[in-house]
Order: sequence, then C-alpha cells, then structure tokens
Amino acid sequence: MKHLIDLNDLSVEDVEKLFTLAEKLKRELKAGIPHPLLRGKTLGMIFSKSSTRTRVSFEVGMYQLGGYAIFLSSSDIQLGRGETIHDTAKVLSHYVHGIMIRTYKHSDVLDLARYGTIPVINGLTDLMHPCQVLSDLFTVYETKGRLKGLKLAYVGDGNNVANSLLQGCAITGMDISVASPRGYECDAAIIEQARNAARKSGSRVVLTEDPEEAIRDADVVYTDTWVSMGQEAEKDLRIRLFMPYQVNSRLFSLAKEDAMFLHCLPAYRGYEVTEDIIDGPNSYVFEEAENRLHVQKAVMVALMSDDPV
Ligand code: CP
Ligand code: NVA
Repeated sequence: MKHLIDLNDLSVEDVEKLFTLAEKLKRELKAGIPHPLLRGKTLGMIFSKSSTRTRVSFEVGMYQLGGYAIFLSSSDIQLGRGETIHDTAKVLSHYVHGIMIRTYKHSDVLDLARYGTIPVINGLTDLMHPCQVLSDLFTVYETKGRLKGLKLAYVGDGNNVANSLLQGCAITGMDISVASPRGYECDAAIIEQARNAARKSGSRVVLTEDPEEAIRDADVVYTDTWVSMGQEAEKDLRIRLFMPYQVNSRLFSLAKEDAMFLHCLPAYRGYEVTEDIIDGPNSYVFEEAENRLHVQKAVMVALMSDDPV
C-alpha cells in the first residue's frame, strides 16, 4: 500500500492486515499502553470541505502515534487562491511525511499522489470515502465476528459513501444491496468494478430502486444524508425524492432482528433516518465513529511508518 485513495486498490489481505493492526491499537489505547509508531512524523491535512470526525480523528490519531498533524484549510493555503495541485504536492512533499485530503474532485487526490512523493490518504471526495468504509466494515467485523456471507443494505443516495461501500463489501465478500431512486444511483464504473470484485470474493451486488427489496434480511442497514456537501442548492428537491427511502421502524423491521444500523454521520433525524432507529438499540453509529480513530491510525502506520508492523 502506497496510498489510500480508492478501496479498489486494496486486496482482502490488505484489509485484514489493517483490521488486525487497528484491533491491536484499539486494545493498547484502552489499556493505556503507548504506541509511538510515528514518532517524528508529520501529517498535512488539507480540507476544502467541513469535517468533525475526519479532522479530529486524524489529528488525535497522529498525536497518539507520537507524530504531529497540521490542519490546512484550503481557504487559508494558497491552493484556495489558485496554486496548482502539482506545485502544492511538490512543496508539501518536502515538509511532511503524508497528506490527508478532503476535497470535491477525486482527480485532485489522484494528482496529489501523482506529483508528490509521499503517501496520500483520501479523506472524502465527491466520488469516494474510503476511510469511512474501512471503519464501517471494521465495526461490523468487531460486532458480528466476520464479514463474508453477511448482507449489507444501503438505502438512499448513491453517493461517495455508497460507492465506497460497494467496493468494500465486494472485496471482503459481503453481499450488498443498494436502493436509490432513478438518477441518484452509484457511479457506473464503480458498480462494474464491484461486480468484478464480487465475482472473485463470491459476494452478491444488487442495485435496485426498491428500498424494501434491498433491506429484506439484511445484517447491516446503512444510510447517509440525502444532501451531501456541495449539493445544498438541490436540498428541497432531494428531500421530496428521497422520502420513500427513509430508514424508519417500518422499513427497518424487514431486516434481520439483530441487524446493525450504521450511518457515517452527520445524520439528519427525520429525513434519511428516524430518531427511534438511529438512537435505538440496533444502532452502532457511535462505535462506528469511534472506530475512525483506530482504523485510520492503522492506515497511517501502514503508509507512513519506516517499520510497519
Ligand atoms: N463521517 C465523516 O466523515 O464525518 P465528518 O464529515 O465529520 O468528517
Ligand atoms: N455523503 C456525505 C458524507 C459526509 C461525511 C457528504 O459527502 O457530505
């Protein structure tokens, strides 16, 4: 692993290694055992969009690993005034040991990796959210003890999170059913990739417009906001269109009795999910948010340590 930009670049073995390391780091942290595996290393964190979880978990994670993280808002650095990704990548490569970036265009993240000489971590683009989905799958693995053979249902917008879920499930052998309204489906190229990966792992990829079909007998039910960052102007239209995809008790009752509810957060109660579900006994959203820290620490160690464990 040189970067973490696209889950499709990972094998199931890469994912298993990251999970083993994340489990160890989580156990050590809870036991108060320090693990300064990135002592003397610095992470640059470029943000062109808002963030609570990603920013704080990377910054705290770096601190816990004995390193240092610098928050770089794109509105404060020269990138926001038109300096190129090319020049930014070349310059930052001389100062820091890795870059985490959250931005709009996925191609900007690819360019950062192409022109720089240090590892790049995708902290969300309009197309993908790989760190989120690794943490989601880790949460399922911790709770259910396996991934292969389980069914995840994603109901709602075919957005960045849904695209990465398609990839992550297909690689790890989980069945995935995605229900979204016509015109709001996942990325066509990613669906194709996921189908290819699923053929290898033996999982099933189902795309439908019918939320009931998707959720039936699911082990994990996942949804995300209907209005992602950058889509604020479409808010009213989206809310009207997506209402039939709301995860409420009626829809959730079609999943398995012990189904987990996941949401990457931030959540909008009363829209994509009702309060009784997200704050109910089947919800693991805060475990999921916590695991961002442990999984991303494993990612940073895998990419940035001179001596990866
Ligand atoms: N889930 C997630 O990435 O949250 P933030 O936008 O708060 O980073
Ligand atoms: N799909 C959401 C995820 C936020 C973490 C967005 O892109 O805004």
